Amino acid sequence: MLRYVTTNPGKVREARARLPAVEQLDFDYPEQQHPDLDPIAAAGARAAYRHADAPVLVDDAGLFVDGFDGFPGPYSSFVEQTVGVAAVGRLCARELDDLDAAFRCVLGYCDGEALDAPRVDAGGDDDPPVALFEGRVAGHVVPPRGDGGFGYDPIFETDGATYAEMTPDEKNERSHRGRALDAFADWHEG
Ligand code: IMP
Repeated sequence: MLRYVTTNPGKVREARARLPAVEQLDFDYPEQQHPDLDPIAAAGARAAYRHADAPVLVDDAGLFVDGFDGFPGPYSSFVEQTVGVAAVGRLCARELDDLDAAFRCVLGYCDGEALDAPRVDAGGDDDPPVALFEGRVAGHVVPPRGDGGFGYDPIFETDGATYAEMTPDEKNERSHRGRALDAFADWHEG
């Protein structure tokens, strides 16, 4: 059993479609503020591992808008909770000619042991290492469409549909999270 540590049931639904052995651990680990997702996922995985004392996966994601130098990016959660997703869409439409964006997801895996993985955040002397796996999808910001998914799904379009217009399987097949889960599963199962 592998604990997927998040308070977001939408992330767990998507993770379980790819990794049926995953169980949600509803633990709100303190999220570092950092301009890059990797250190946030690494610190979150360490905090979650220390809490669970068992192997954990944490998932840090964000919408990176090219014309805003990647904003809201790692601050996507704070921005969703404060101004809201629809306001981000309106701000992009009003301020930008180029609405290109990317969704990114970084998974951090920690089991307290040394890890032989392509990307490992070693941390400090007393820290357990964390293996990092990334998925990235290019698309653009559009006015909200669709009823599915969660978070920024209605305003992120890729392959002609927003994530919120896709079935869960369609989203998982091409999404940032689906790709990060594939990279993790290839390593973990291989
Ligand atoms: P965090 O990874 O929990 O910090 O979430 C970052 C922000 O991105 C939150 O506002 C989430 O709602 C949003 N988010 C994370 N994953 C997705 C996704 O797959 N689709 C849409 N929004 C997402």
